[in-house]
Amino acid sequence: MPVRRASLRSLAKINLGLHVLHKRSDGYHELRTIFHTISLADRVDVEFSPGRGARIELESGIDVPHDDNLVTRAAQLLFDRLNIRGHARFGLNKRIPMGGGLGGGSSNAAAVLLALPVLAGRRPSLELLQEWAAQLGSDVPFFLYGGAALGLGRGNELYPLPESPELPILLITPGIHVSTPEAYRALSRSLTPELPSCIMSSFQTFAWRLGQWSPGGFGQTGNDFEDAVFRRRPVLGAIKRKLLRQGASPALMSGSGSAVFGVFEKPEARDRARAEFVKEQTFPGKLVSRKTYRRMWMRQLAEHRTDSNTWPPQSRYAK
Ligand code: C5P
Repeated sequence: MPVRRASLRSLAKINLGLHVLHKRSDGYHELRTIFHTISLADRVDVEFSPGRGARIELESGIDVPHDDNLVTRAAQLLFDRLNIRGHARFGLNKRIPMGGGLGGGSSNAAAVLLALPVLAGRRPSLELLQEWAAQLGSDVPFFLYGGAALGLGRGNELYPLPESPELPILLITPGIHVSTPEAYRALSRSLTPELPSCIMSSFQTFAWRLGQWSPGGFGQTGNDFEDAVFRRRPVLGAIKRKLLRQGASPALMSGSGSAVFGVFEKPEARDRARAEFVKEQTFPGKLVSRKTYRRMWMRQLAEHRTDSNTWPPQSRYAK
């Protein structure tokens, strides 16, 4: 049987607002966040050959132990749950900086969850994929949907938000690796829920404005990690202030850091701002809507899926 191949773009995300409410009895924190996919992407190449046995291989330029990589963990989970037999080979070409709050590893895992069943002739429901994604990591489920989404709970309870135009963004990655568990610990949140009404009003306003973007921007939103992370790494706060001076609206740290981004009205304004950051690594890009995200997925699995427009893409090899 011929080898089935797909070359996948695995997009990064930013958080357009992130509030950490309280610590939960399971050790995670209760969140209110807005995720948005952006055009910065890793490439995940997949080859699947049906056959006996179960073999998973990963080739990547990064130094992550085989069994600790989210690509192999996602593939192993699918082999086990869907009783897949054959040989899966993955090639991972990283462009999304690690430890930047951009969800690179989570996106790679979701790419495997969306693509491997299609190549292997299985049709798991979206509910099952969502459940398995949450087992792999709090940010993985979002990448099953893309676009703009409201994240509640651990960040894995997701609801679609109205979409804004695909505005230009500038990402600044100063090469600082922030550990997510440490960033949460530094917030010292207690187990007791506090009434979040005052924080949440600006967050709500922002969410409502998303679909009604107009020149002048969305306005500012908040990320609860910024105070603690900026205290330790003042350079990140300076980057945010510089982005604001350059007209970004909003300018914010993503996730638990350390990437800082600015949303701009026009590509020219974004490019002018970029020229001001000579020392840092910068990535110009844009917001990616759910419609574009799904089109991209349908295209990159075109050879192996049915013609149906249902989400997620359905395997044409399923019996
Ligand atoms: O779910 P994930 O493995 O990505 O989370 C990494 C770590 O981040 C968790 O072990 C936990 O310390 C912290 N976390 C949290 N609350 C969340 C998400 C993550 O405390 N909502």
